[in-house]
Amino acid sequence: MPSINASKVIWFNGQLVPWEQATVHVMTHALHYGSSVFEGIRAYATPRGPALFRIQPHIRRLFDSARIYRMELPFTAEQLTEACGMVVRENGLSDAYLRPLVWRGYGVLGVMPIDAPVEVMVAAVTWGAYLGAEGLERGVDVQVSSWNRVASNTLPAMSKAGGNYLSSQLIVMEAVRNGYVEGIALDVNGQLSEGSGENLFIIRDGVIYTPPATAALLPGITRDAVMTIARHLGYEVREQALPREVLYLADEIFFTGTAAEVTPVRSVDRLTIGSGTRGPITTHIQRTFFGLFDGSTEDRWSWLTHV
Ligand SMILES: Cc1ncc(COP(=O)(O)O)c(C=O)c1O
Repeated sequence: MPSINASKVIWFNGQLVPWEQATVHVMTHALHYGSSVFEGIRAYATPRGPALFRIQPHIRRLFDSARIYRMELPFTAEQLTEACGMVVRENGLSDAYLRPLVWRGYGVLGVMPIDAPVEVMVAAVTWGAYLGAEGLERGVDVQVSSWNRVASNTLPAMSKAGGNYLSSQLIVMEAVRNGYVEGIALDVNGQLSEGSGENLFIIRDGVIYTPPATAALLPGITRDAVMTIARHLGYEVREQALPREVLYLADEIFFTGTAAEVTPVRSVDRLTIGSGTRGPITTHIQRTFFGLFDGSTEDRWSWLTHV
């Protein structure tokens, strides 16, 4: 049974089309060779109606991801920003997860992609807490993955490309098979990298640490938001290379991501972190983050765009 909450319409190469008609041919280049880039964006329900969270950096990252693979989008950033607002409005959603996708379409069979057309779509669906509503409150159990993240100069981690998620799939399938919710991967040098779809934060003695962009991770927009919030709240945030064992010595750990939002980690490899539930600094940051949407946190960084 599909678990996607189908909505009514999808923005597909510039037109709104019914959900069922937003289809591609089986000989689409991206299906064979992973040649796609995408975004995940949330629209939150606010007292003034639905608002997109940090739409500009998401659209910018989509263009950056495409540029690395020399994909020329047949639409402008303004057109795609408008499409994002449109799919929330036209589907009558009060909150949503948006999925803009750019892919090499039907046209060539060989690996060389340049002659395949570049296609674009934006879908919006309702999607709850990615690692579970209970996970947001109580924290999730995770393992260190036996799979490393991609090595530098193999697949570019800074491009949010479909193909990179083969690595993510190996990490999360292994974790779930072993009875965990998620896996944390190391980079090929054995340093901490990220979860299969989330960035990683570690707290010890009141200082917040996160691995650097050189650790084979996707520099998350929620990661950036959380670093900004944490510094604003007066915490020290250090972006630095971190060995695996800091996980086991942490007072608190949490994940960030558009899908995962701010999700505490309560155990790693069956070792309890802190008191085994959401810690005080994680709670403070999480409350401030979600407060942006109910208005209890002032949107001083202009991160919300009302649709
Ligand atoms: C591999 C990976 N890392 C990190 C993130 C977090 O990025 P963001 O906060 O921009 O959603 C995501 C999710 O988008 C991801 O897929």
